[in-house]
Amino acid sequence: MKGIILAGGLGTRLGELTKVTNKHLLPVYSKPMIYHPLETLIDAGIKEIRVVSGPEHTGDFLELLGSGERFNAGITYSIQEKPLGIAHAISLAEDFANGEAIAAILGDNIFEDRFNFDDFYDGAKVFLKEVPDANRFGVAEISNGRLAGIEEKPKNPKTNYAVTGLYLYDHTVFYRIKNLKPSARGELEVSELNSSYIKDEKMQYEILKGFWTDAGTFDSLLRANILASQKEKQKK
Ligand code: TTP
Repeated sequence: MKGIILAGGLGTRLGELTKVTNKHLLPVYSKPMIYHPLETLIDAGIKEIRVVSGPEHTGDFLELLGSGERFNAGITYSIQEKPLGIAHAISLAEDFANGEAIAAILGDNIFEDRFNFDDFYDGAKVFLKEVPDANRFGVAEISNGRLAGIEEKPKNPKTNYAVTGLYLYDHTVFYRIKNLKPSARGELEVSELNSSYIKDEKMQYEILKGFWTDAGTFDSLLRANILASQKEKQKK
């Protein structure tokens, strides 16, 4: 399995913090934000990783991460000319995936869990986390132990399980993305991509035990820093 880190986007919700730099280069406790999803993939045994980011900052990622040798991984780069959505960013890694399954992770997501993707072979898989404020996220609808749907930011969520920013996809992902239409905000949406797998009854899920947060708002960035500091201290 190959890994893709989505590190494009505009990061507008972080205001002045992302005026001259990319969100994923900001510090989350002792490391640049992107190190966290990078370590999540590497700890899961992934050796080949593609970083997708916008043209303004691809050079910074190259300078920071280089060939990946220091991380015992091969890291390469794709440029997303415009932030046309997470599914669009994934589509840029088609040649890199070269028919293999992929683990796509949002560059601003911080996970405590260690993952093992060995049992994944086809379809897709999402990772769910029970949260107190599910209405802020994509929420999983579970029926008879199956993932029946994902509702985007519902007013009255049917469960408390948020869909986190780590997705496993089989090789059909690129074909599926080609069949997506841009949403009202002009993006190829990862939620639509996931819906295509759900419709075909090819979506699996797993519930996370450890903490999870994104780091895309001032409050979640603060939380990410605190959780990352706790994780690092536990290791010592
Ligand atoms: P978002 O947080 O939805 O978007 P953003 O990072 O541009 O932030 P804001 O809403 O504050 O403007 O994106 C989630 C992750 O996906 C983020 O880590 C960046 C990545 N992403 C891409 O790589 N390409 C894209 O086109 C988009 C929209 C997001």
